[in-house]
Amino acid sequence: MTLELDDIQHILVTRTPALTGRYEFLSFGDAAGGRRWLTELVGRVQSAAEAEATLGASKRWITLAFTYSGLRALGVPDAALTSFPVEFQEGMAARADVLGDTGDNAPEHWAGGLDGDDVHAIAILFARDAAEHARCTTEHDALVARCQGVRTVSHLDLNANPPFSYAHDHFGFRDRLSQPVMKGTGEVPTPGSGDALEPGEFVLGYPDEVGPPTDLPQPEVLSRNGSFMAYRRLQEHVGRFRAFLADNADTPGEQELLAAKFMGRWRSGAPLVLAPDADDPELGADALRNNDFNYGEMDPFGYACPLGSHARRLNPRDTAHNMNRRRMIRRGATYGPALPDGAPEDGVERGIAAFIICASLVRQFEFAQNVWINDRSFHELSNEHDPICGSQDGRLDFTVPRRPIRKVYKGIPAFTTLRGGGYFFLPGLRALRYLAGLTGGEPA
Ligand code: HEM
Repeated sequence: MTLELDDIQHILVTRTPALTGRYEFLSFGDAAGGRRWLTELVGRVQSAAEAEATLGASKRWITLAFTYSGLRALGVPDAALTSFPVEFQEGMAARADVLGDTGDNAPEHWAGGLDGDDVHAIAILFARDAAEHARCTTEHDALVARCQGVRTVSHLDLNANPPFSYAHDHFGFRDRLSQPVMKGTGEVPTPGSGDALEPGEFVLGYPDEVGPPTDLPQPEVLSRNGSFMAYRRLQEHVGRFRAFLADNADTPGEQELLAAKFMGRWRSGAPLVLAPDADDPELGADALRNNDFNYGEMDPFGYACPLGSHARRLNPRDTAHNMNRRRMIRRGATYGPALPDGAPEDGVERGIAAFIICASLVRQFEFAQNVWINDRSFHELSNEHDPICGSQDGRLDFTVPRRPIRKVYKGIPAFTTLRGGGYFFLPGLRALRYLAGLTGGEPA
């Protein structure tokens, strides 16, 4: 079955060279107003095919997605609404207990009104540079002002971290290294990245790793070439992270090693399995080598890469059953100003605002959250969560396997805090036009 790259929104397939951008969270107080907003934007949303063909010349990339209440606010009929998966209908805030979003991560502490039912849509406006960012957001503000009943609930401005030559988060780790590849995109997996997967793992309407599509939301015009996105705005406490390293490791070299043990990779991106004792920045930057490893044969006990490290949890590779059913496409950006090296915590919010894209929020994203990230006994670790993005209350550990005896770090603080989130449906382009063409609908 051919992948309809001219109908699939580009975010599913393409990593754009945007250095900046904005997420706009919108509410439709009036169905006709919401549809007008969509009608004006739909022609500007790039498909995967268009984005690939114009990547060098484009200055901005637009993605549109909707919450369950957003689909209802646009006038999607009840019979169609109830055909969507229950977890999407409930939304991320209502699933906080399932996801382990408790304590400081709980929805009542979220920013930007994201815990409310009135967030109906997100417009992801990625821009190549600051001038284009300003142009796009001004134009979008004017559009919102023209559409009766449409308002911006909140927005988040995004910016890459300097140096801009490679993508990395605020802790300084090289990102965008490992990603599943979908059959039909023409992309070839790099060594160690696993086989290209059936598109139905990520795009609705196609066969997945176990067979033909089932239980598609109806009508088909709405679901085909669509997907689901879990949005996570995760604040990174950079000062706290650096202080923990300084307090728990004697030399700068040992601090770097401890940071790498938390992540599973050195800040350069070099995987610990291939570079267990010392960083190897050339390896980190080499796409043909930096995923070419496994855990089961090469590091079964975690002497190089701890079983509880972030990357090993989120992709246990050959040590997990059903791995091909659990992959996720990651997109997003960093936000907030970089904290200069050596500077103390300044209290300014900075972090990662990411989308985890998958065909099944329960099987892929929620499984990752509640088993890999927040299950205290995952991999037979007895009292741990993911040290990078798990919920931490200062009472959990992090174990570094070592000979002759392992080292257990006690009282891991929260290096990150969830500041907001949401479940969004990402329609294909035909589906966006279907939504724009709906009639009726009560004022929401
Ligand atoms: C502030 C929070 C987070 C930070 C700083 C972070 C950072 C990173 C970095 C630096 C990598 C290694 C680079 C790479 O393999 O591309 C990575 C890998 C990964 N992360 Fe995260 N991440 C965060 C949260 C999450 C969340 C919430 C999820 C999913 C629920 C996630 C899923 C993954 C996956 C699937 C990988 C790839 C592992 C592999 O294939 O080896 N991350 N992350």
